[in-house]
Amino acid sequence: MTINRRQMLAYLGGAVALGVGIPVLSGTEEAGTLIPSQLPLPTPFQTRLPIPRILSPQSHPDHPGADYYEITDQVADREIIPGTRTRIWGPDGTFPGPTIFSQSGRPTVVRRVNKLPIPTVNHLHGGHVPSASDGFPTDLVFPEGHAGHSDMADDPMAVTTVGSRDYVYPMTQRAATLWYHDHRMGATGMDVWNGLAGFHIIRDAEETALPLPSGDRDIPLMVVDRSFDQDGEFRYSESDGALGDVILVNGAPWPVADVHACRYRLRLLNASNARRYRFALGLPIVQIGSDGGLLDRPVSHDTLDVAPAERFDVIVDFTAHAHQEITLTNQLGSGGTAVVMRFRVGGPIPDHTSVPARLSTVPRLDRAEAEVVRDFTFQRGPKYWSINGQVFDPARPIATPRLGACEIWRFVTDFHHPVHLHLVPFQVLSRNGLDPGPADVGWKDTIDLRPAELAEVIVRFTGYKGRYVLHCHNLEHEDMAMMATVTVV
Ligand code: C2O
Ligand code: CU
Repeated sequence: MTINRRQMLAYLGGAVALGVGIPVLSGTEEAGTLIPSQLPLPTPFQTRLPIPRILSPQSHPDHPGADYYEITDQVADREIIPGTRTRIWGPDGTFPGPTIFSQSGRPTVVRRVNKLPIPTVNHLHGGHVPSASDGFPTDLVFPEGHAGHSDMADDPMAVTTVGSRDYVYPMTQRAATLWYHDHRMGATGMDVWNGLAGFHIIRDAEETALPLPSGDRDIPLMVVDRSFDQDGEFRYSESDGALGDVILVNGAPWPVADVHACRYRLRLLNASNARRYRFALGLPIVQIGSDGGLLDRPVSHDTLDVAPAERFDVIVDFTAHAHQEITLTNQLGSGGTAVVMRFRVGGPIPDHTSVPARLSTVPRLDRAEAEVVRDFTFQRGPKYWSINGQVFDPARPIATPRLGACEIWRFVTDFHHPVHLHLVPFQVLSRNGLDPGPADVGWKDTIDLRPAELAEVIVRFTGYKGRYVLHCHNLEHEDMAMMATVTVV
């Protein structure tokens, strides 16, 4: 396989000086290099929280019986920092892209049209989908006129298209907060930084029947960090993890949301390339769901650590805080990155919602069911970033689980690595031989591994055979080849 530029840099030494970054020296909680903005940063809490546009399903003769959506990835200039324009690569020209709602059991087809100057790959993160629609990193969609060549995709099994691709999602999975984002081999960090991400939320009858806050009291919050140059353009550099100094929620810097004094459901998504957050509100954060949907029962947290790609579905009760301001902070940040957004609480309204003590039934996978135990060691440079000493090779699987098999996977790491597996969610069995952490509950598809940690997860490979990936979701680590092919056989 051809080694792309970023992997070459990794081979040459992960810390090759790449220009603009300042390494973060704040101990063990952050993994990355801060890219300083070059313009005066906006005053927090001046911009209203945007809610990404919700797409309406269409029908299409090519896909009878499916909810059909068409999204065009295109260049657009958006006002992110007030008074400036930022060129983005946006789904439908927006950042975040539009939100899709799917109903469990009802197939969804998303046609992604590529009008960008680069090839794209779209991945539905958390999706239980056939390999051909998963967004394998070399299954590139080239823009019209750039017919099918890339030095990054010297992969005989890659299925590339020109102009567009139809991603087919059977939606045979429970309600959960998924998201979509670019997954192009060697360039995911840059593509996502430039805007290629959005929410894809699945609903089902079980969840809809619960008395949880809904409608405009069910708010998806995509939290990212970005940096800007003096003209307001995104500033990015390849590094050991790109960290920005501006926090955007749903694409707006440190926004403010007007809420009533009642319960809200917040769907927290850390869509940052590399930044971890420790969210705090000064009031209890009641977790009802994780990456893979509802928990058995709610879990109350004072703070919540959220690594890249993780989702936490939480209920926050503003009832006792009428006419107050409640700030969502990040206890792992400093200066501007220590605050995220603000809720401006109005008066009370009648609230008929509640948080049931029993939310759902999460069947436990049992150790005794596992037929295979596999070890995966995530290692950073100095020579390259690897899993079990291998850099990403699309053609050479690191594991070939049998369809239907239950396996225990043990992840070991030297550094912060949010480890993500495609296709199927897992359950966390242990961390360093001890019980999982308070936020490791439910079905996960991403686990936040801390330095020198060993975590065990249990997973059953259901649904589809074919090629998927296991990788670090620090996007710069992923681009530096900390990814492996997993082929279900
Ligand atoms: Cu969120 Cu392999 O990705
Ligand atoms: Cu990593």
